[in-house]
Amino acid sequence: MIATLSDPAIETKKKRSAVKAKRPAYHEPVLMEETMSFLAPAPGKLIVDGTLGGGGHTEALLTRGARVIGIDQDPAALSFGGRRVADFGDKFQAVRGTFANASELLDQIGVTQIDGALLDLGVSSHQLDTPERGFSFQSDGPLDMRLDPDGPITAASLVNTMSGEQLERIFREYGEEPAARKVAVKIARDRMVKPFITTLELAEAVESIIPRRSGTHPATRIFQALRIAVNRELDALEEGLEQLTSRLAPGGVFAVITFHSLEDRIVKTFFKHRCTEWLDRPEWPEPRRNPDYVFQALTRKPVIAGAAEQRRNPRSRSAKLRAVKRLALK
Ligand SMILES: C[S@@+](CC[C@H](N)C(=O)[O-])C[C@H]1O[C@@H](n2cnc3c(N)ncnc32)[C@H](O)[C@@H]1O
Repeated sequence: MIATLSDPAIETKKKRSAVKAKRPAYHEPVLMEETMSFLAPAPGKLIVDGTLGGGGHTEALLTRGARVIGIDQDPAALSFGGRRVADFGDKFQAVRGTFANASELLDQIGVTQIDGALLDLGVSSHQLDTPERGFSFQSDGPLDMRLDPDGPITAASLVNTMSGEQLERIFREYGEEPAARKVAVKIARDRMVKPFITTLELAEAVESIIPRRSGTHPATRIFQALRIAVNRELDALEEGLEQLTSRLAPGGVFAVITFHSLEDRIVKTFFKHRCTEWLDRPEWPEPRRNPDYVFQALTRKPVIAGAAEQRRNPRSRSAKLRAVKRLALK
């Protein structure tokens, strides 16, 4: 029988492929194969994905036979990611919270040791592309930027209540923005007339100070800085690295994907110190054993996306993956 356009079989097929085609729209995971090659998921292994997001990495870990605990502080990510891997049943467990509290979260579900940990930092494309979340300077939404929608601080509260000096420091430290001072002065002046409420109000104020030049929007660094401050992202990263390291079994791998230099510096320093067996200082008569020595480096330099991935997924261009393996020392 020749199928007609309204054939239910074709319609179902079309719907399925539309769902499939839509999938990456939530978030396209970066450095997938590279991440899997380090974490080496397999039956019998338990891996913590501390940044579940759209569940792309988690799905790949489960497909290769590992059990996965997926942590995210965003309930929208937990419900999307959770639905995506529903077919894996009790091999997957979703946990709401921040990876900065990984130890407590794992205690609550009775897990003492894990065989791998993954952090794929930052925001998902879905969070970025949802105007109501307030992460984007491209579309109008409330100046929010909370990864955890129940979190105590919004970007608007920072922008409207911090002193000009505090804002300047945030823009300089977290955004590495050369015009930090000028933007902070502009904000402090404008908000006396009317508080900042929306993303575009802030983006326009920044653009009046930093003219558009290359491809990047002038507000990129200011928005990055505010997001980091709202979510205390750098503190959370340091805490999460400590806590997940303490749960790794000997042979367990820790893989971290970062998207800007501030994050990468923290991960690099944290791993480097723990991969160093002996410490030496000019004032010491001889080198001393490093009590924090627990890792073997798996990446001497960060792994970056290949040309094909960078073409396919522009977000991957700033991704850096570092990985270490827990030694059987203590
Ligand atoms: C880049 S996305 C992860 C994408 C995911 N690997 C995938 O394949 O779809 C980052 C996710 O981490 C979450 N996140 C960021 N910081 C977090 C934290 N401190 N604790 C828990 N989740 C966090 C965000 O809410 C977001 O969903």
